[in-house]
Amino acid sequence: MGKNNPIGVFDSGVGGLTVVKALMDQMPDESFIYFGDTAHVPYGSKEEWEIMGYARDIMTFMMRKKVKAIVVACGTHSSISLPFIQDDYNLPLLGVLKAGARTAARVTQNGKIGVIATLAATKQLAFTREIQAIDEGFSVFEAGCPKFVPLVEAGMLDGEEAREAVAEYLQPLLDKGIDTLVLGCTHYPFLTKVIQEYVGPDVRLADPSCDTIEDLKKVFAEKDLFNEGTAAPVRSFYVNGNDESFYQVGRRLIGDTLDYVNKISVDGL
Ligand code: DGL
Repeated sequence: MGKNNPIGVFDSGVGGLTVVKALMDQMPDESFIYFGDTAHVPYGSKEEWEIMGYARDIMTFMMRKKVKAIVVACGTHSSISLPFIQDDYNLPLLGVLKAGARTAARVTQNGKIGVIATLAATKQLAFTREIQAIDEGFSVFEAGCPKFVPLVEAGMLDGEEAREAVAEYLQPLLDKGIDTLVLGCTHYPFLTKVIQEYVGPDVRLADPSCDTIEDLKKVFAEKDLFNEGTAAPVRSFYVNGNDESFYQVGRRLIGDTLDYVNKISVDGL
């Protein structure tokens, strides 16, 4: 695979753009293709077999685009699909779990870590396994937050509804005495302001995005995959469902880099 080929990044919707932001900051010379599976968002309420099927279709699309590596910028796919597809493709495939676990382990002081993610992801307890693989003495408390993704996709990032949902999901974790909160769904950094306001300054938020891109850099260094071309990077965005809200909400995060959204179908490619 050519070094100048793009990186594939995917999620159910705008969430993976939080990882794209880190990618653009930390690896500004790389081209990428982003796919938001907006026809199927939210993933949190879907069955495992459905989520795995979406991953297969998206991977087929990405392989046709000749990507040189994939970032699974989705906690749900990282927990459910990635373990099953990992060995089926001959290119680096990275998720956000290990990075999220590492970020949390680095910042916690009392060893009590909360993880918020989709219901589908929290059922797997995959973050708990990754965090306790670093130190089995960590206490990990996972909570599913099904109202968050629809709020983010609708661009309702800091109103009353978002505040009420934050209080509902986070108070039980605060009651456990956590000092660190992993944003285990890539949509959740969009809600950082309301989450941080609610949990207060003594609880640190652990967003896996930056460490995920650090992992990608390590893989690129090992496999000699850094783009060495001199042309400006090409950044393309694809969705298969609502493109207008993807455009509106996405631009709030990454600005006019998101200048056009291509609408396609990847079903049964
Ligand atoms: N952003 C995704 C995640 O990280 C998916 C959220 C959803 O569609 O429910 O889990």
